[in-house]
Amino acid sequence: MALWGGRFTQAADGRFKQFNDSLRFDYRLAEQDIIGSVAWSKALVTVNVLTSEEQQQLETALGALLEEVRANPQQILQSDAEDIHSWVEGKLIDKVGALGKKLHTGRSRNDQVATDLKLWCKEQVLQLLSAVRELQQALVATAEANQDAVMPGYTHLQRAQPVTFAHWCLAYVEMLARDESRLQDTLKRLDVSPLGCGALAGTAYEIDREQLAGWLGFASATRNSLDSVSDRDHALELLSDAAIGMVHLSRFAEDLIFFNTGEANFVELSDRVTSGSSLMPQKKNPDALELIRGKCGRVQGALTAMMMTLKGLPLAYNKDMQEDKEGLFDALDTWLDCLHMSALVLNGLQVKRPRCQEAAEQGYANATELADYLVAKGIPFREAHHIVGEAVVAAIAQGVALEALTLTQLKQFSPVIEQDVYSILSLQSCLDKRNAQGGVAPQQVQKAILHARQRLN
Ligand code: ARG
Repeated sequence: MALWGGRFTQAADGRFKQFNDSLRFDYRLAEQDIIGSVAWSKALVTVNVLTSEEQQQLETALGALLEEVRANPQQILQSDAEDIHSWVEGKLIDKVGALGKKLHTGRSRNDQVATDLKLWCKEQVLQLLSAVRELQQALVATAEANQDAVMPGYTHLQRAQPVTFAHWCLAYVEMLARDESRLQDTLKRLDVSPLGCGALAGTAYEIDREQLAGWLGFASATRNSLDSVSDRDHALELLSDAAIGMVHLSRFAEDLIFFNTGEANFVELSDRVTSGSSLMPQKKNPDALELIRGKCGRVQGALTAMMMTLKGLPLAYNKDMQEDKEGLFDALDTWLDCLHMSALVLNGLQVKRPRCQEAAEQGYANATELADYLVAKGIPFREAHHIVGEAVVAAIAQGVALEALTLTQLKQFSPVIEQDVYSILSLQSCLDKRNAQGGVAPQQVQKAILHARQRLN
């Protein structure tokens, strides 16, 4: 039975009911709705709407319902209740009879759904935080194992300067650390209870809303009832966090997809996260990574959809707001999945060091070194840049690396070049010299690993 039958003489059209009902997705708020209802029943005792005995009875029945829901959440979908709030109230009335009908005193589904969703978001943030940290751990472990794996670093997808695989891993640790801090920030602002704001104007019962908030584990209660039932900033913020986090994961995926191509051939992905072709027997495709890259799109879409849904909505509650859930649920599920999948990909990843090294040695990634060498011998950088450019052209024409040119050949570009140039053209020297904070020098990478480890422990 619907919660609001009295005012109506005609039953809802079947199509409208299907269009209007939200149970098929908001059943995921069942636990939060029950926990919120227990807290509300306690508040009703403080204003003498319920006796302690009645409250006890309700709490026991709601506790039993919680167990049932935890054991089998899908059972909720069998019901034709309008939404999760009607479902919980209906079940409660089934269990305790008329007493169950007292629970909704002074409460509205508007403050109820706002509370349920915030409780759900808080739990999701904790899960996401732990997945973000887990992936950082996996990245740090991969960095630790690959500190001496030299590979080309790119700009414009052209080989630019040598880096190490460890340094690449640590770049993503930094991005994920920011994702982590964004989630923590979101959690702070979200941790405020709307319960007791009624439909829009506040509840007519003199409930201590701060106490009620505390019972639900919120840090405090909201300060304006109109805002409380209309606010979905937490959905927007979480979707923004997810959208940014997924951009990071899609770049991570793309880098590895490139490293895994036959052309680069820097890494071998585990059989456990790749799939084959139905036609071409030789294929081993990076599906896990492609899906991570691909799923980034739907998360951006969910953020945009929520922004557009809320844009221009008048205060206070409007049914439009029921559209907050599906996109949010899907986006956060997707983000969580992709975080786990990224860690799984890393755990089985093999870095092909000889091939990485070979690629780093090609492509004139040490050209900047030669320019710096000339600068050290007193040539202004702009001039040095030009000289090295000419040397690179000559080396390309001969199909060799800079360090393969003889001293006589090199001297043709600048007489200041001496035998000591060869040691600075080595990959190791290129790395060692970048020893300012955040650079690729082994000492800096070691420091970064240590710092990340300390933060993550
Ligand atoms: N299913 C609704 C939602 O998700 C619950 C609140 C309904 N409130 C109302 N007055 N119709 O937003």
